[in-house]
Amino acid sequence: MTVSSAPGKVYLFGEHAVVYGEPAVPCAIERRATVSVTARDDDHVRVEASDLSLDGFTVEYAGSTDDRPDVDVPAGLVEAAMGYIDAAVEQARDAADAPGAGFDITVESEIPLGAGLGSSAAVTVAGIDAATRELGTTLSPEAIADRAYRAESAVQKGEASRADTFCSAVGGAVRVEGDDCRRIDAPDLPIVVGFDGGAGDTGELVSGVRALKERYGFAADTVETIGDIVRTGERLLDPDADDSGAGVDAADRIAEVGDLMNFNHGLLESLGVSSRSLDSMVWAAREAGAHGAKLTGAGGGGCIVALDPTPETLTALRFTPGCEEAFRAELATDGVRRLE
Ligand code: MEV
Repeated sequence: MTVSSAPGKVYLFGEHAVVYGEPAVPCAIERRATVSVTARDDDHVRVEASDLSLDGFTVEYAGSTDDRPDVDVPAGLVEAAMGYIDAAVEQARDAADAPGAGFDITVESEIPLGAGLGSSAAVTVAGIDAATRELGTTLSPEAIADRAYRAESAVQKGEASRADTFCSAVGGAVRVEGDDCRRIDAPDLPIVVGFDGGAGDTGELVSGVRALKERYGFAADTVETIGDIVRTGERLLDPDADDSGAGVDAADRIAEVGDLMNFNHGLLESLGVSSRSLDSMVWAAREAGAHGAKLTGAGGGGCIVALDPTPETLTALRFTPGCEEAFRAELATDGVRRLE
């Protein structure tokens, strides 16, 4: 058996705009998906996922992932998660040049599905890493990221950036702009996450932004303005990169990062990807004194990310109607982790 885990992430800035070539800065957090893979001596694939839905599910099929029956669990999200697992299986078969390889796969995840914390990227990254290693091929984290991007892109019908998968594969805070993906040196950030218990459909949300952008020039400008926010924010996070923030106190820089996150949330809201519960968690965090707060990921429901070194935001979120869970998230400095 081969076991790998990969972290989820929050976006400090830039989701959605990154799909159109603007930069984004996601940051890996210590909430992981763990995938265990055992090679079979036939071409069947059996997937057991105890945490990916309320009841968990098991599905088994022979040969091509195209022949997989629909998973018999009443949640479109589970079907979507299986899409990522199928795509990871195909990538591993291709990487190891083993088109007929069969696997027993177990997925365990601490990351809620479709909630903006990068569950699909984490499952895809850990799945490709474990399955390729099980077949005797070891890829670099960058090669895993590239294959995971191709897998995610196939599931999202070409509407994906490299941000989620690169961040999950390499860990830390990263900057992604088109094909240019790299780690950046970010300070220790006081990240708080609020989760409304819901989820959004990434494909639909991305298509909604595309439709707005094609219809209105000002929506296209909004996407570009998000890019400007990212370019300003990244200089605050890593002032040594170009000396622009040299001499500015670290606490002041984190406070300004928060201001930019507020700005970024407003623009995402105007692009139609926020929701009532995301907005009320964002406002609860701001009123509790957070430096800033915004939705994270595709939106539509799911999670917000706030910056607050004090316990106030965490406490306020726990009393906010519509917030199901709130927690402090540690930066995950490791990306894909090889456990067995
Ligand atoms: C989803 O986590 C982030 C989006 O920007 C889509 C993507 O980058 O693939 C909405």
